[in-house]
Amino acid sequence: MILHPTFGLNAAGHLTVAGFDAVELAREFGTPAYFLDTDAVRAQCRTYRSAFREAFGEDSLPAFAGKALCYKGIYSLIAQEGLYADCVSSGELFTAHAAGFPMEKVFFHGNNKTDADLKYALELDVGHIVADCADELEALERIAAESGKTPRILLRITPGIDPHTHKKVVTGSVDSKFGSAIATGQADETVKLALSCSHLILDGFHCHVGSQIFDIEPFADACDIMLAFIARIRKTTGYEAGILNLGGGFGVRYTEDDPPVDYRANVLALGAEFDRMCAVHEVKKPRIFMEPGRSIVAAAGCTLYTCGSVRSIPGFRNYVSVDGGMPDNPRYALYQSRYTILNAARAADPADFPCTVAGRCCESGDLLGENIRMAKPVRGDIIAVLVTGAYNYSMASNYNRIPRPPIVELAGGKAKTAVRRETFADLAALDC
Ligand code: LLP
Repeated sequence: MILHPTFGLNAAGHLTVAGFDAVELAREFGTPAYFLDTDAVRAQCRTYRSAFREAFGEDSLPAFAGKALCYKGIYSLIAQEGLYADCVSSGELFTAHAAGFPMEKVFFHGNNKTDADLKYALELDVGHIVADCADELEALERIAAESGKTPRILLRITPGIDPHTHKKVVTGSVDSKFGSAIATGQADETVKLALSCSHLILDGFHCHVGSQIFDIEPFADACDIMLAFIARIRKTTGYEAGILNLGGGFGVRYTEDDPPVDYRANVLALGAEFDRMCAVHEVKKPRIFMEPGRSIVAAAGCTLYTCGSVRSIPGFRNYVSVDGGMPDNPRYALYQSRYTILNAARAADPADFPCTVAGRCCESGDLLGENIRMAKPVRGDIIAVLVTGAYNYSMASNYNRIPRPPIVELAGGKAKTAVRRETFADLAALDC
């Protein structure tokens, strides 16, 4: 196993992905291409789902955050696994609907939903619209009245937690484009406004502390603050929230330097804390949702590239260039996110060639990693970037007019294209 159960080594010393030889996958499907071990995705859905039931009760469930990976096939899989979904745009709603996803199991997010977005969500009868602020509530009330519907809503509340310092740095996240902050009193005002809207049914609250968080402390802090808020709102208005949605899920191990994560143990530990805090705040246990995206799909994915030029700049560094880069994975260029990168045919050999892995765009910042070590590749070798199942395809672009790679699903020993490779004709198809 390399980092996650999806990745291993075979007798030839080649990287395996869901049991397939990576070099053969590259030969069959071409490069660059995304591969997704959907058996591993299903296993992760089941881990979250059963842990949720155990920790929070029968009707508490995870909702897959489609922003991490969005195509029709993933929504079918998520529906089969009985999860809810979190959509953040009309495009994501459209994709879920087109896949036959049960729209009553959707949370619809966004800090700036347009009137058209809100109308579309009502048309599709999405389960919950997560209203982001007072202005949006007013727009939704008007649109609901016009369309004769009474949508169920959650209110997005900003609890004021900075997950990366593990302190309640109130000002740190009060200044956010998302939600209404408790600290400024706006959260209380927004609740009162929602309760006065005769066309909206307020079912509870939503908060999101951040992404790529490894321990439960920031989530426990969020629960504490949100339960105190629920208790206060009950006292001041008589309203008792039936749902508390805690937003994104736990972090993911991208390299050996990241800790392994026990998702089940984390959910159970959070559940125990949650029970304790409900008692402290004397709040009846609401239904709990969480919206893991990254931790459902990231570790089940990898991207295979073909190595092009390998060059050394004496006194500086070695560059290994691949036939993809920031258009299919902008995360290093955007966030300096670190990945595990291997020479797929020599995955068992010593990783003794220090290099920078560069993409093929006309842009110096188009890199997939720096200070990488791998067995020295030559032109034509297959280079694998592991753990790319989340926020790669969904953030891909056509910069430099480069077609997006396909997504190949690997399940039960079979490989099938779930999203085909873009063609040059696709790229020019919208040009009038
Ligand atoms: N729910 C809400 C309201 C969110 O804002 C997010 C992520 C999630 C759920 C899913 O969080 P996850 O379980 O995936 O951590 N593009 C960035 C990640 C941005 C995440 C934004 N919100 C990246 O590539 O790392």
